[in-house]
Amino acid sequence: MWKLIVLFSIVTASPIGFSGVDLNPINQFAFKLLNNVYAFQDNFGQKNIAISPVSVWSLFALLAEGSTGDTFIELMRELRLPNDLRGTQDLHSALLNVLRSNDGDVILKGQSAMFADQTLNIHQEFCQSANYYKTDVYFVDPSNSTRLAEDINYYICVATEGRIREAVKAKHLEQLRMILIDALYFKASWTHPFDPTQTKEEAFYNSQGKTIGAVNMMYHKAPHNTGDSNLIGAQIIEMTYGKSEQFAMLILLPFDGMPLSRLLDNLATQPLDWLSEFKSGGNLPEIDCYIPRFKISAQTDLIPPLQYTGIQRIFDREKAELPGVSDSPLYVSKTLQNVEIEVTEEGTIAAASTVVGLEDRILGQRFEANKEFVFVVMDRSSNLVLFSGVYAQPEIV
Ligand SMILES: *[C@@H]1O[C@H](CO)[C@@H](O)[C@H](O)[C@H]1NC(C)=O
Repeated sequence: MWKLIVLFSIVTASPIGFSGVDLNPINQFAFKLLNNVYAFQDNFGQKNIAISPVSVWSLFALLAEGSTGDTFIELMRELRLPNDLRGTQDLHSALLNVLRSNDGDVILKGQSAMFADQTLNIHQEFCQSANYYKTDVYFVDPSNSTRLAEDINYYICVATEGRIREAVKAKHLEQLRMILIDALYFKASWTHPFDPTQTKEEAFYNSQGKTIGAVNMMYHKAPHNTGDSNLIGAQIIEMTYGKSEQFAMLILLPFDGMPLSRLLDNLATQPLDWLSEFKSGGNLPEIDCYIPRFKISAQTDLIPPLQYTGIQRIFDREKAELPGVSDSPLYVSKTLQNVEIEVTEEGTIAAASTVVGLEDRILGQRFEANKEFVFVVMDRSSNLVLFSGVYAQPEIV
């Protein structure tokens, strides 16, 4: 098991979209989410992580348009949405512009869809917002979840060029009234490819300098932007794609002795000035560059990390406020993301699918002892406690 942190700068040379809109609010959300996903997965001993924060951002920004009350306030704050709808839509079109850009050596395409229960009365305004976000809208009969899973998987498989074939299983879709999907596909060659004959097996270390395994280390000597950022505590290299060099992968290596979690904390809390701080400017030096060949396939339940991030109400099955979406009260019960990324001598192929499922809200009170609890047996007239205990280790009896 080895740890590596990889970032896609979906943002080009400067964080300003074509329309002059500042996309940094999306990046701030992205680094906070990455930090929380890491903190959460680390608890389960899972070390390699790959997420597509921009997909999550765009699906929840759409849902924000149908939300009110605390649900809306949390989404505005954590997605860093502008205060007016017009500003949000501008941010979204700037994003779509980036996702549409294409040159010969780089393919990047994003696609999104809404599969809604045909018996659900979706508000016209919400369909218009979906339309504005270039989301295809399908009305379906969700009662056969096997067929619905096939349809969704087919949509995602086509959108990701066959990279993600089983994004959802039928059991994920039971009870769902509405499903929002975002699919992203990226394929690009390095501006300076690596020579496969130079690739050699090498040791890989943890932050204490202890060998924890081996990788196929690629090597080349090529001009790259590289430097240190004291703001976040990392040595950074920027490796560009294609002739136009509009896209790049950044690799952030924590300073010696600094744990990866510190770097992720810094990324989540520091201003984004480091994105320019490490660049030297002028003629780029020729760098001896060693990068492992790697592949990560990850499926992540994003609800716990989004909750850590401060988005809670929309997942609350009693209190979520989404009156702008439909007449039936709904809440978000699923947020699953599949990401596959492969980095080789030639370049990078990455695909992501994000599935957000909405269910009918639970109206009325409910008590479900499905987590650790305390129990007490007592005499009701005297309040005398006869037995008490904790149930924390589940067991089928
Ligand atoms: C559900 O869909 C599957 C796959 O399309 C089909 O084989 C099955 O017969 C359907 N089940 C029902 C109850 O209609």
